[in-house]
Amino acid sequence: MPTIIEPFRIKSVEPITMTTRQEREGYLRAAHFNLFLIRARDVLIDLLTDSGTGAMSAAQWAGIMRGDESYAGADSFYRFHDRLHEITGFDHILPTHQGRASERILFEIMGGEGKVVPNNTHFDTTLANVEHSGARAVNLPIEEGRDPRSRHPFKGNMDVVALETLITETGAEHIPLVMLTVTNNSGGGQPVSLGNIRAVREVCDRHGLPLFLDACRFAENAWFIKQREEGQQDRSVAEIVREMFDLCDGATISAKKDGMVNMGGVLLMRDPALFEKATNLLILTEGYVTYGGLSGRDLEAMAQGFKEVLREDYLRYRIRSTAYLGERLLQMGVQIIEPPGGHAIYVDAGALCPHIPAEQFPGQAVVCALYREGGVRACEIGSVMFGTHAAGDAAGGAGGADAGPAMELVRLAIPRRVYTQSHIDYVLEVFEEVLKHRDSIRGMRIVEAPAALRHFTAKFAEV
Ligand code: F0G
Repeated sequence: MPTIIEPFRIKSVEPITMTTRQEREGYLRAAHFNLFLIRARDVLIDLLTDSGTGAMSAAQWAGIMRGDESYAGADSFYRFHDRLHEITGFDHILPTHQGRASERILFEIMGGEGKVVPNNTHFDTTLANVEHSGARAVNLPIEEGRDPRSRHPFKGNMDVVALETLITETGAEHIPLVMLTVTNNSGGGQPVSLGNIRAVREVCDRHGLPLFLDACRFAENAWFIKQREEGQQDRSVAEIVREMFDLCDGATISAKKDGMVNMGGVLLMRDPALFEKATNLLILTEGYVTYGGLSGRDLEAMAQGFKEVLREDYLRYRIRSTAYLGERLLQMGVQIIEPPGGHAIYVDAGALCPHIPAEQFPGQAVVCALYREGGVRACEIGSVMFGTHAAGDAAGGAGGADAGPAMELVRLAIPRRVYTQSHIDYVLEVFEEVLKHRDSIRGMRIVEAPAALRHFTAKFAEV
């Protein structure tokens, strides 16, 4: 059968409140044209993020009921621990409340003044945690990763030659670890190949450096490897995942993505001395080692979620449904970062509204147009988000001295197991309407904004 259906039935539903265009116009103005300031109940289709917004399965909800809330040594912790061990092979496993908590602990231990941390592309919170420690973050995506039109199958790959050069110029003693983000969120949700992970591992070995994964979307990445990398078609996703983790010395994971939960994170390490330091920091700020800032029920939901995400019928549907949105937009003449990523589609708002200059925030203008037209909430990744930082790189990634030219992007992130194909068809119809009168979409100016992370709270007016 050619149609790839949602591999689940819906057992529990959450109503969407329908709104009129006139009502949305009012909400938009009351929120000063900032979608972060709009109440979620006034949004019809929420594509702001795929993080923590997924639907849990009946088995996960059952786990919630059996959560063991003992302070120390809860059964729920051991179920979480055993699952993560089974999937990744790691023995040293800490739960944290979300990805950035893992990052904060890691970089407090390994970062610091004078150090340099390479990554294919740092996610914002990773960049912020590296910099907060006093270290410098460097993005080293391959050239194709900076070109939105390139159809390279693994645009998330790291430029291995550039990594070698950076290590030689900086001195390996100043580089505490090398990091690879799978999939590369800030680079358009693009995957990293097994070949690239192996090549980065080789460089790390030659210089005695540890390799860490930012493994938020490890299962989606493994699915792309199975589909696109030579010789990987006959392996199971679980085997590929295992090899990805076998190749590294540690990982930070936000379980709000491929952990299929609303809240949770993981920190993995091989080095016992490092693990001891991380354990002490975890106890200091997150909680005891067998709960790490979470409830026993959250650990149960993770133990189950990490199992479900490896189901190949789920991953086939997941990646196909994102590609469906991307392909239809391209057919409609909407330029996106190609090929479609795993968790999100990144629309080139600069190309959609060439009449709006970067200083009038075309991404923000398109985000507002999508909301006004159909109550769709998307996220600007362009001059609003990165305008006060150095330029974002080609895909609107984390800024930095090495960053390339900024792009004006709008990210449509797809929550896991939440929307059906007709919801996505509706989003496409909203785009059709927006396209019809794109020439009349007005630019934006900032009325009020804080110094840092302004996209969350800035107030705008139409030009
Ligand atoms: N790393 C990557 C690649 C991420 O995409 C995120 C979060 C984090 C780390 C941090 O995890 O939110 O659990 O602390 N990304 C979300 C997004 C927020 O919308 O892309 P967290």
